Amino acid sequence: MSTEIKHETWSSRWIFILAATGSAVGLGNIWRFPYVTGENGGGAFVLVYLLCVLLVGLPVMICEVMLGKHGRASPINAMKNLAIGAKLSEKWGMVGLLGIVAGFLILSFYSVIAGWSLAYTFYFVTGTMETMGPQSAEAFFNKLTESATSMLVWHSIFLVITCYMVGRGLKRGLEMAVKSLMPILFLMLFGLVCYSAVVGNFGDAIVYLFRPNFSALTGESILIALGQAFFSLSLGMGSLMIYGAYLPKQTPIIRTSAMIGIADTLVALSAGLAIFPIVFAYGLEAGQGPGLVFVTLTVAFGAMPFGQILGTLFFVLLSIAAWTSAISLLEPIVAWMLEGGRLTRVKATVIGGAGAWLLGVFSLLSFNIWGDITIFSKNFFEISEFLSTSIMLPLGGLLIVLFSGWRLKSDTALEWLGIEAKEWKLRAKVLILLVKVVAPLGVAAVLVNSSGLDRIGLKIFSLIF
Ligand code: PHE
Repeated sequence: MSTEIKHETWSSRWIFILAATGSAVGLGNIWRFPYVTGENGGGAFVLVYLLCVLLVGLPVMICEVMLGKHGRASPINAMKNLAIGAKLSEKWGMVGLLGIVAGFLILSFYSVIAGWSLAYTFYFVTGTMETMGPQSAEAFFNKLTESATSMLVWHSIFLVITCYMVGRGLKRGLEMAVKSLMPILFLMLFGLVCYSAVVGNFGDAIVYLFRPNFSALTGESILIALGQAFFSLSLGMGSLMIYGAYLPKQTPIIRTSAMIGIADTLVALSAGLAIFPIVFAYGLEAGQGPGLVFVTLTVAFGAMPFGQILGTLFFVLLSIAAWTSAISLLEPIVAWMLEGGRLTRVKATVIGGAGAWLLGVFSLLSFNIWGDITIFSKNFFEISEFLSTSIMLPLGGLLIVLFSGWRLKSDTALEWLGIEAKEWKLRAKVLILLVKVVAPLGVAAVLVNSSGLDRIGLKIFSLIF
């Protein structure tokens, strides 16, 4: 069968942890988490987010890595093979297809934002960023997004370096990047939190992030929190499935997943703690949207001693974090094309990259010339972001837990997870409860609510009775 093609294997479990953390930690934590938190009113949103990570995200992650490790192929073929092995319908391969489409869509706008990070690196290196107050930082950011040409250049550069890495194969380069650079990013982020604590309005930020104000919470923001958990943990679209497929046999999946989840959450919270004290100290707008991190950090670095060097370093690291995530967005589709047997890795990468580039161009134009073209008052970028993150990822995750929890035999699943005998009894029960009941119900409820199906259902119900 064509799916028999041999994929690489990670050199060790640690490399997998680093690569998966590299996939998880990215713009989702540092760019997206603070800004969606700001748009959704703070504390209550953060609480819902943390619950989503714990009760839904982690179970989905465990299942996804498990399916990849045993399917040993791209998401589409892994799901197909596992389903056939368990005497189920081949149609389960569609879960992989949904993931691949979602990944493609995410990569397209992800690369646009990563392009901003590259642009900021360049501005800091060349000293364009002298000390700036909030207004000029905002104006500076707007100047970048208003220029379709500059964004096009940076978006293209970012996709080229992503394709370069994926084209070479995962082990060379990616392993190196995550091994040495991720820890430096963590350290810098920690340093930034300390800086913000001293210089910024730390008290207000803590209250904002951790004191829940439930009146600010809407149905849509719950869906956004769930989507953010999936986005940040790289779930629901096959990234961790394909990374799991490259795992050596003896890897403890649960402990490994927990480590990735914890690292990712700590980075997101640190980003919040670095950004919001500055936002409040300078009277910036917490709900200003995608520009939040760029504007805030420009102000912060501008006012700091050695700001130019530190700013450069920070945006270099952010670009690298985005790069290791983007690689994991492109890999599933490339692995799938490779399994077709007709393309070389390089060709598959070029095709995947070119497609994402084109869609990305539509996204970047919606920040300027196409800004007014909207459907349901969302522009192309916002539609791609909402559709992929808030609908497709949770839907993919739902199907993954349903497959693992209800279609696979519990014994098989537990054996695949390496759970044996007595010591695990309680933990196995908790896990089964989460995978079978809590996670699917949670995702389904949020999806139904957000799509308006519940209101339609109620209407029909009231019409009939
Ligand atoms: N988790 C990545 C981030 O936080 C984005 C991503 C989403 C990567 C889905 C892979 C799959 O930036």
